[in-house]
This record gives sequence, C-alpha cells and structure tokens, in this order.
Amino acid sequence: MSLRLGDIAPDFTAKSSEGDINFHQYLGEGWVVLFSHPADYTPVCTTELGTVAKYKAEFEKRNTKVIALSVDGLESHQGWIKDINETQNTTVNFPIIADEDRKVSELYDMIHPNANDKFTVRSVFVVGPDKKIKLIITYPASTGRNFDELLRVIDSLQLTAKFSVATPANWKPGEDVVIAPAINNEDAAAKFPKGFKIVKNYLRLTPQPN
Ligand code: BEZ
Repeated sequence: MSLRLGDIAPDFTAKSSEGDINFHQYLGEGWVVLFSHPADYTPVCTTELGTVAKYKAEFEKRNTKVIALSVDGLESHQGWIKDINETQNTTVNFPIIADEDRKVSELYDMIHPNANDKFTVRSVFVVGPDKKIKLIITYPASTGRNFDELLRVIDSLQLTAKFSVATPANWKPGEDVVIAPAINNEDAAAKFPKGFKIVKNYLRLTPQPN
C-alpha cells in the first residue's frame, strides 16, 4: 500500500555511506528529508546531491536532516561521492543509503515500474518530529529537483504547524499568510495581534506571525 500524508514514516535500518542508519533514530526530535535518486554516476543526480551538500546549513537552520537513497551499493556511493565533491565543488555531508536489496525503496514506493522497473524515481518525503509524513513529491528521472522550493515548503510546514495559518500560492517567508478558516474573526483578532485584512469572509490575510 502506498504511503500517504499523515502516515507514520515506516522505520528501517539500512547501510549508508556514513554507516548503518536507523531511520527513526536519525530523525530524532527534528525533521528529515528522505529523497531518492535513480542512480549513481548520472549527471542530474550529481548536480542534485552537490546542491543538497551546499544547502546543509539551510537545512540545519530548519532543524532538518537530509538522507539520500539509491539502489546502488556502498562502493559505488563512495566512488561517486568523490566525483560529486570534485565536480560540484563541495563535500557531501549527509548519508546516502545503499538500498541494493530495494527494501527501503519498496517500503516507500520509490520504484515506479511503468517509468523504470530497476531504478528509483526522484521521490521526496518530508517527515516531522512526530514521525509523520508531511510532504510527498515525485519527480521523473529527467527533471532535477528545485531545492529552494523544498526549503520553502519546509518553512511553510514549520510555520503552519505552529500557528493557525496556511501559506498562499507562491508564498515566500516574510510575506502575508492566510488565516485558517476554522478561526473566527474574534479569535483571529486575539491570535494575530499584527491585525488582519478581510478580502472575503473565507480569505483573510495577516502578516507572518513569527
Ligand atoms: C541523471 O541523473 O542525469 C539521470 C538519471 C536517470 C535518467 C536520466 C537522467
């Protein structure tokens, strides 16, 4: 059965480029991005993992760890990491799971046989401190991911977990947010001391509360 938002992210233990990893222990009290790529020694994946390495500080600011996965083995990962470091001018600073037996790929439905029956697609799972899946995105092998978008979504997830708000289309941190429909105007006035604008009864905007 495929995973859905709100499900507990299945736990697993797997070999990785940084040693054996238990997923729930790795998650700890923070957030995790688990993302798969089709294969080592491929061009788009090389740019993706180099980009994630460069964004480490941005993920850390958000109390978020990252962990990559492909069905290649450890030796392949270790050799490829050297190439990523060299070509992307960075140092890979997060674990890459060696899922040769496809245990994790199958658990997370990362192999889409009608796209490719051997390799994982570009899946992204964001998991919160409660171990629940907060976001699932799937990209095809031919499209490298936009990791700025991923940081933006994590900002939205963390903001909306704390306040009774949602973030509108194309929202960026610092911009106005939408007040959750369940909050009436009286409660909104107390909850959002910066004030709010009623565009329609169902569309109320307030400055970002944090
Ligand atoms: C790549 O990472 O460049 C790639 C991998 C599989 C298929 C197409 C591109």
